[in-house]
Amino acid sequence: MINNSPIVNNSLLRFQANRIGGAMMRKIKISKAFTLLEPGPVVLVTTNNGKKNNIMTISWTMVTGFTPLFAMTTGPWNYSYAALKKSRECVIAVPTVDLIDRVVGIGTCSGASTDKFEKFKLTPVKGKQVRAPLIRECLANIECEVIDIVNKHNIIVLEGVAAYIDSTRNEKRTIHAVGDGTFIVDGRTLNRRQMMRSKLPDGV
Ligand SMILES: Cc1cc2nc3c(=O)[nH]c(=O)nc-3n(C[C@H](O)[C@H](O)[C@H](O)COP(=O)(O)O)c2cc1C
Repeated sequence: MINNSPIVNNSLLRFQANRIGGAMMRKIKISKAFTLLEPGPVVLVTTNNGKKNNIMTISWTMVTGFTPLFAMTTGPWNYSYAALKKSRECVIAVPTVDLIDRVVGIGTCSGASTDKFEKFKLTPVKGKQVRAPLIRECLANIECEVIDIVNKHNIIVLEGVAAYIDSTRNEKRTIHAVGDGTFIVDGRTLNRRQMMRSKLPDGV
């Protein structure tokens, strides 16, 4: 028996409109498309401008090479930028979910007027290769040198020169920014190492 109720018909129409190429696809605004690709760990980036340490929150990052090379997007709107340009060094620190409120707090105030290590009760740790400090409370830290700045697109290219992981930490779940003020927490780890063997560099 066919149900002619308008509610069912409307939802049927909606269902058909959502089918694209045989798949269920709900159209979203193009301005929101970046939120589909953004998830990657939110990181904290520390700098030292020769006078003081600072921290900013960064979610626009990518890996550009195994050596390892990284890129992040930032610019003169952040206080950290001048220190990055001047010192050509930084540390990328990887926080875990227990630090989420500190991560957001760090990303919503400026080092121009705030000592963020003090305000957010984080401990700077002297690195081996760069003057910017590691953050003790983070799961991992990567000392980096700035090897290029692509001004046209506000991209900073970094080379990791030393990396550390705190394997004694119980909480290892990183956080991933969607870009709209919500975050995704790491879930299950799926192992496809055998399938990917030919694509993995030695020792990884
Ligand atoms: C979750 C989150 C992610 C952010 N990601 C970026 C980013 O990728 N690039 C950027 O320039 N700013 C980003 N910000 C904003 C900076 O962290 C923010 O402007 C910060 O206050 C800069 O600090 P500073 O002025 O002390 O350098 C982000 C902020 C938050 C809360």
